[in-house]
Amino acid sequence: MTDTSRKVLVAYATWAGSTAGIAERIAGVLNRSGFAAEAVRAKEVRDLSPYGAVVLGTAVHAGKLHPDALKFARRNAADLGSKPFAAFIVCLAMKGSDEKARATAGAYLGPVRQQVKPLSEGLFAGAYDPQKLDFVSRQIMKMIKAPPGDFRKWDEVEAWAASLAPLFGAGQTASSR
Ligand SMILES: Cc1cc2nc3c(=O)[nH]c(=O)nc-3n(C[C@H](O)[C@H](O)[C@H](O)COP(=O)(O)O)c2cc1C
Repeated sequence: MTDTSRKVLVAYATWAGSTAGIAERIAGVLNRSGFAAEAVRAKEVRDLSPYGAVVLGTAVHAGKLHPDALKFARRNAADLGSKPFAAFIVCLAMKGSDEKARATAGAYLGPVRQQVKPLSEGLFAGAYDPQKLDFVSRQIMKMIKAPPGDFRKWDEVEAWAASLAPLFGAGQTASSR
């Protein structure tokens, strides 16, 4: 189905690409659930009117979400409040996925919540590949002795994406939360 109510935007903001991979996986799961979902860089999105639901995903650097994600949430706050909206964060704090990790990662989404409260929040571990980073970022990661690796847990990503289908299908909005 490709009518507006089944069209889902998975907007993402990334530095090194791991968030893009997660956004694409989420879009894939939604497509298999009967939606017409597409993953698009947040800064490339001009108009939300074609979409019946929106997911926003962002990476984190130094405790702050990607500026493109924040701009997207600010620019589209009114529209996002009138459609089913979910958000996810990608960070290395979630390598642990215990309560402390979830609290840290959940706090990163605060600035998005201030604009519009998501119906659901996904908290995911990301990846660190020094070759995909600039010199300064690499030095920071060396200083904190972060081990390189891809820590994305695809089963958790897919389970969260599947949990969005009924929320999006039910047409819930900010006003019904
Ligand atoms: C310079 C730098 C700072 C980071 N700061 C944090 C942080 O404060 N908290 C955290 O949990 N992860 C942090 N990370 C990990 C990233 O969020 C993680 O590598 C994520 O997967 C990056 O997403 P991307 O590949 O889409 O850019 C940092 C990574 C870098 C390179």
